[in-house]
Amino acid sequence: MEIDHVAIVVKDLDAALRLYTQTLGFKQVYREIVADQGVEAVGLEAGGSFVELLRPLDEASPIAAFLGDAATKLHHTAYRVADIEATLAELKAKGVRLIDEHARRGAHGNLIAFLHPKATDGVLIELCQPIR
Ligand code: CO
Repeated sequence: MEIDHVAIVVKDLDAALRLYTQTLGFKQVYREIVADQGVEAVGLEAGGSFVELLRPLDEASPIAAFLGDAATKLHHTAYRVADIEATLAELKAKGVRLIDEHARRGAHGNLIAFLHPKATDGVLIELCQPIR
């Protein structure tokens, strides 16, 4: 599996974008609201992968609680798969606990699903099937 994106939660998206684009030289590829996850997501090109900045839309967003008082926090790593439903079925058969039994729509039109962090030693892992 290859990395699709690494997602970082930020409190101040404009400040983070200045850092990543103007200072570090990343190019913005997408920026959108993902309402059901309570975030605004910005994808920055990093070779064949992306750095994805996530801003909580409001205090009710699950990632607002995750961020707490921090200015920024690494949230998850997403691995690209060709057939997300097949991969989920395979992992489930292996006894891996899943947050999402079936794929849902994420940023950039991707189909995504999260594995339960209890099954991955505390690291939140997302499977991601690009629809581009
Ligand atoms: Co993601």
